[in-house]
Amino acid sequence: MVRTEVRPESMARITTKELADQFIVEQVAEIRAQVGQKKVLLALSGGVDSSVVAALLIKAIGKQLVCVHVNHGLMRKGESEQVLETFGNEMDAELIYVDATDRFLDKLAGVSDPETKRKIIGGEFIEVFNDEAKKLYEGGDLDFLAQGTIYPDIIESRNGIKAHHNDGGLPEGMKVELVEPLKLLFKDEVRVVGEALGLPHAMVYRQPFPGPGLGVRCLGAITRDRLHALREADAILREEFDNCGLAQSVWQYFIAVPDMKSVGVKDEKRYEGWPAIIRAVNTTDAMTATVEEIPYAVLHKITARITAEVDGINRVLYDLTPKPTGTIEWE
Ligand code: XMP
Repeated sequence: MVRTEVRPESMARITTKELADQFIVEQVAEIRAQVGQKKVLLALSGGVDSSVVAALLIKAIGKQLVCVHVNHGLMRKGESEQVLETFGNEMDAELIYVDATDRFLDKLAGVSDPETKRKIIGGEFIEVFNDEAKKLYEGGDLDFLAQGTIYPDIIESRNGIKAHHNDGGLPEGMKVELVEPLKLLFKDEVRVVGEALGLPHAMVYRQPFPGPGLGVRCLGAITRDRLHALREADAILREEFDNCGLAQSVWQYFIAVPDMKSVGVKDEKRYEGWPAIIRAVNTTDAMTATVEEIPYAVLHKITARITAEVDGINRVLYDLTPKPTGTIEWE
């Protein structure tokens, strides 16, 4: 579906809490008028856009919003838990949690081609989400689908750059109307609105995370033990970036773990392990990127912690390649 909406030139840029509050009041009224007493479904990944849509809809229609959080087993450490805590507990949302880890990892077993991995993850996600949508629809309990579409998605769709990322599609024959309260906002405005809605700062300002998650950072064919090592090493990197302030300034930073081992030594014994590769880049548009100059003291600390705390990792490497020639992700 090619999108044709145009943001009116008269629309003020939302840069302050006051402007965000005003936007929220207007949207709450609009959403209530559109939805009435009906139910709305939302795939809640925990990313910035879907989180802000969820918070806005909870404010407008409370439990008429049904959120589905699919854990594909490729989330970063603590991420699904954060979604459950923020939306399930603190905001008391109607939240369906689907732990589909086994389903995804079984399908991905032995698959090493990056694009095939992406297709499997994307396809499986739609299936799992649609299973939930079908249940609600057949129970007569679903009339609307909310999406975290933002204005850059509309622009890219309009210019034929890419199909809208939320274009996965619902099962055939299911007729629902879209609710897209952020569709005329830019990312920075979405963040201001998110903070005004009371979402945690870390959630609203989190770094970009690809849809296929850790699946494209656990290089080659994913195994559960290597995925576990990657998740733990990535959590240490994030913690140390938080501690030294880099988390606020670096655009995207993460660990990738390749499907290869090298010889090392631990406790005076031969110790074969995987390397953890640090990637930390800055960019404005993700088309090109430069490498962050992480201070050596921070690199040494991260290396010491990862090799001591993460089973299976015996080396830490620092990727110094800008984009081009490297892409930001390794797959
Ligand atoms: P690359 O690796 O192409 O990444 O330099 C540019 C930006 O896009 C993100 N990325 C993805 N996001 N699905 C996504 O939703 C994907 O398959 C995907 N691949 C890369 C990447 O994290 C970076 O921010």
